[in-house]
Amino acid sequence: MKQLLHTPDGVRDIYGDEYQKKLKVENTIHDMFISYGYQDIQTPSFEYFDLFSGDIGTTDTNGLYKFTDNNGQTMVLRSDFTPSIARCASKYFLEDNNVLRLTYKGNAYVNTAELQGKLKETTQMGVELIGESSVESDVEVIRLAAQSLKAAGLKKFRICIGNVEFFRGLCEELGFDEDTELTLRDYVSNKNFFGVKEYMSSINLSDDKQDKILAINDLVGGINCLENALSLAENERSKSAINRLIEVYNSAVNCGIDEYIFFDLGMLSKYRYYTGMIFKGYAVGNGDAIVKGGRYDNLLSQFGKAAPAVGFVVVIDDLMNALCKQERNESKDDEYLTFALTKGRLADKTLALLESIGITCEEMKDKDTRKLIFVNEELKLKFFLSKGPDVPTYVEYGAADIGVVGKDTIMEENRRVYEVLDLGFGKCRMCVCGPHEAGELLKHHEMIRVCSKYPVIAKDYFYNKKHQTVDIIKLNGSVELGPIVGLGDVIVDIVETGSTLRENGLEVLETICDLSARMIVNQVSMQMHSERIRKIINKLKEV
Ligand code: PRP
Repeated sequence: MKQLLHTPDGVRDIYGDEYQKKLKVENTIHDMFISYGYQDIQTPSFEYFDLFSGDIGTTDTNGLYKFTDNNGQTMVLRSDFTPSIARCASKYFLEDNNVLRLTYKGNAYVNTAELQGKLKETTQMGVELIGESSVESDVEVIRLAAQSLKAAGLKKFRICIGNVEFFRGLCEELGFDEDTELTLRDYVSNKNFFGVKEYMSSINLSDDKQDKILAINDLVGGINCLENALSLAENERSKSAINRLIEVYNSAVNCGIDEYIFFDLGMLSKYRYYTGMIFKGYAVGNGDAIVKGGRYDNLLSQFGKAAPAVGFVVVIDDLMNALCKQERNESKDDEYLTFALTKGRLADKTLALLESIGITCEEMKDKDTRKLIFVNEELKLKFFLSKGPDVPTYVEYGAADIGVVGKDTIMEENRRVYEVLDLGFGKCRMCVCGPHEAGELLKHHEMIRVCSKYPVIAKDYFYNKKHQTVDIIKLNGSVELGPIVGLGDVIVDIVETGSTLRENGLEVLETICDLSARMIVNQVSMQMHSERIRKIINKLKEV
């Protein structure tokens, strides 16, 4: 039975001191919720699949734990609580027009990918304020979120607030169709404004329209950014979204929580159920948001009860992680910005570029050193070198604030990081290559074998763009050998000068996309060190 002593990947036992600490935090937060008049509610751990799919769900279908019951019905382990609470509120309080304040606590389940250090089961606590659309109700939940984090012992955190209506209003004003809006939304929420620019140029948008969308990049910070947003928008929908945030801010000042508040109008959500203000709580010590919330005035009507609602969730495991790091005083590291650079060709070019904006690290120039971390004490910067595919991983978890890595690696690793800058060097192309004759195999949707170091990119290209079924064989280097020795028909690989292909009798058959070195930033660092990081980005843009 020894093999059964450990838990499956992504779930864990918590006991002893650690559990005591967790319970204490949960109790503190629960007391806070109750003190605001919220009533406890418990919903089942699993529900019908439909409750978590379509417009209601916030987790990809692939990430849901699904199973069938005896009747063949598909069930889902809850991946979050809001759909269940909305269902429950509609069912039991259908005729009740009073304001409802509900609070829940329990575990939620997401089937995250293996070997990524991500929990599949997390404890979540949250509130839903139903039947109120006032500014006061927005402020109430923000205040409750801030006070809960503070009472739990968290010292350094920020509540970042946006309003999805601002962006939607701008898109309407500029006459964008749905596809354009959705494409721009993805770029903007990824803080990828060079992507925004490239995309807008590709669809021939006029300069003044482009400028309006690009200006969103600077709509971050305190009350000033709201004033700038007001003068940018010429439509009522965006203006009223901003006026609403100004009212929220003024109330926040009155209740003394403005020190935690930070606005970011580029913070958008892919979930359509948000209808107004959205917010996230970030803390030094955790690479992802600890609090997520917002207004969703149309969700309950999907269950038959038309009522506005606003709420948030605290991911307790992430909060514990931040508390633990802050307690161990790792937050003194927080004075430093850490860069993860890709070893090899890109590293030298990156260092030269950083040097041109006054960021130097003499220690790194010593080629014989065995040190792994290099520090510039004066500028409070740290640097380390790692293999390309590890750079997005370090950045996603916040082990590095900033990374420099090729676009190929970003696409392949698909990590949750902001892609903020195209550094313009390391230019090459991702291509399908092979012997000349293999070109025919690409024309008729034939089943072929593809060798690649980039199976994710290869799969996306053949399945989603070419609709061709292929067998993908993952190799770790010198991929060109694949078709030469007969392991596969073609390869998906990087082509820079093309000399490797030429010398081996292969050629480019199709180009998938252009590549270059990019700067990526951890999403929490971007908010917690906004001023410093933006300064670096702006200087690099000028080079
Ligand atoms: C990359 C890529 C190609 C080669 C292309 O390999 O995988 O093999 O460079 O460059 P070229 O067009 O200038 O010839 P890398 O040298 O990084 O090593 P690997 O083959 O082991 O991946």
